[in-house]
Amino acid sequence: MKADLVVGLQWGDEGKGKIVDHLAQRADVVCRFGGGHNAGHTIVVDGKKYALHLVPSGILNKKAINIVGNGVVLSPKDFIKELEQFEDIKGRLYISDKAHLLLPYHAQIDKAKEKLKGDKAIGTTGKGIGPAYGDKITRVGHRVGELLNPKKLTNDIMEYFRIYKPIFEALQIELPNKDELLDELTSYKEALKDLITDTTLMVWEALDNSKNILIEGAQGTMLDIDHGTYPYVTSSTTISAGACSGLGISPKNIGKTIGIAKAYCTRVGNGPFPSEDLGEAGEYLRQKGHEFGTTTGRPRRCGWFDAVATRHAVRLNGVDEIALMKLDVLDGLDEIKVCVGYEFEGKKINYVPYTLENVKPIYKSFKGWSKSKGIREFEKLPLEAKDYILALEELSGAKIGIISTSPDREDTIIR
Ligand code: GDP
Ligand code: IMO
Ligand code: MG
Repeated sequence: MKADLVVGLQWGDEGKGKIVDHLAQRADVVCRFGGGHNAGHTIVVDGKKYALHLVPSGILNKKAINIVGNGVVLSPKDFIKELEQFEDIKGRLYISDKAHLLLPYHAQIDKAKEKLKGDKAIGTTGKGIGPAYGDKITRVGHRVGELLNPKKLTNDIMEYFRIYKPIFEALQIELPNKDELLDELTSYKEALKDLITDTTLMVWEALDNSKNILIEGAQGTMLDIDHGTYPYVTSSTTISAGACSGLGISPKNIGKTIGIAKAYCTRVGNGPFPSEDLGEAGEYLRQKGHEFGTTTGRPRRCGWFDAVATRHAVRLNGVDEIALMKLDVLDGLDEIKVCVGYEFEGKKINYVPYTLENVKPIYKSFKGWSKSKGIREFEKLPLEAKDYILALEELSGAKIGIISTSPDREDTIIR
């Protein structure tokens, strides 16, 4: 049996949490493969809201096992805090011993560097994601498995502090002393020791036993370290390819890939966003869609569905089916625009070039509708909404198989 995969097709916050939760109802194993607590996945069940950052969204299915894969950067402090909202995680949640540790100094470096960049700042979540992945790639990071021997880990991190002292001093970062560090790491070990394991073997075993495996992406394609709007991206491989390295499985193990896209677009942080609407429509989407970050509370930048970027994302991820989210947020608009091409260096193009800076959107207009909120059958949608969905399907190059019409688990159309 192969593992199904859910990935974001835009700039994150597409509504991955809701769909993963929906699909997790019949999953045996749910895995996160990348990112860290920069992610914020919101799930609403019976009116109760859960905000998940590191814990896979399958945690709300009591029968599913949840895995935080090796591709994740894990902040033990934030993970332990997040776990407080769940009572019964015993035997239902595991962390890869090969996942990298994100420690408080990573967040301090992240914030200090952003401040120094001034108006060139990326607008990161300030959680330390870039510095933690940076340490991993430059081979000076530490892995979750090392928490099991806090004394040795303390010595190794003190040595790292010694080597990088000039940098910490220049950034005016105060570091813990050896005793404080040992206490901190020991407390992490006590809280997490039963969860740390070789999750690669666990996933292999689940595959061999034909278990139903669901893989939960974080962030979105346009934030991918290679294929996003570099340098205004996150530091991980967010596209489907990242699922293989981030869990230790082969491309042959991936089954269906579901791409999540909002019926419009948002972006948090800085960087190019061709279909951004800085006028009334953008404000309408922000208010109606409650477009404020789950992780940082920042207002999200809002704009129109970008069919060029979506088609690019469909190809990069090998999307079999799109889940179109937040259709209800467009309810009540007279005109809905879709970006169908770009003007780039004096030419009209229909692909995503090397940079999206200085790219101008070419729009096609669609007629709005009054109400789609809460509708659970495709046929019951307003005619204009159906036309809009069919047009997006054609422009994006993948079937729109799921349509979401409210935050609630049940308000989901399966086509
Ligand atoms: P994720 O990071 O991709 O999981 O998405 P977020 O949770 O950061 O942001 C999506 C937001 O939209 C959350 O607050 C969801 O509860 C909400 N949401 C998801 N689907 C729908 C929908 O169809 N309609 C509306 N109105 N809200 C939705
Ligand atoms: P989910 O999983 C939206 C953005 C940040 C910033 C850039 C780099 O909820 O979709 P980082 O802290 O990762 O170094 O910041 O990436 N970003 C996200 N935007 N949703 C996310 O996750 C994001 N994770 C990172 O806003 O622009
Ligand atoms: Mg989010």
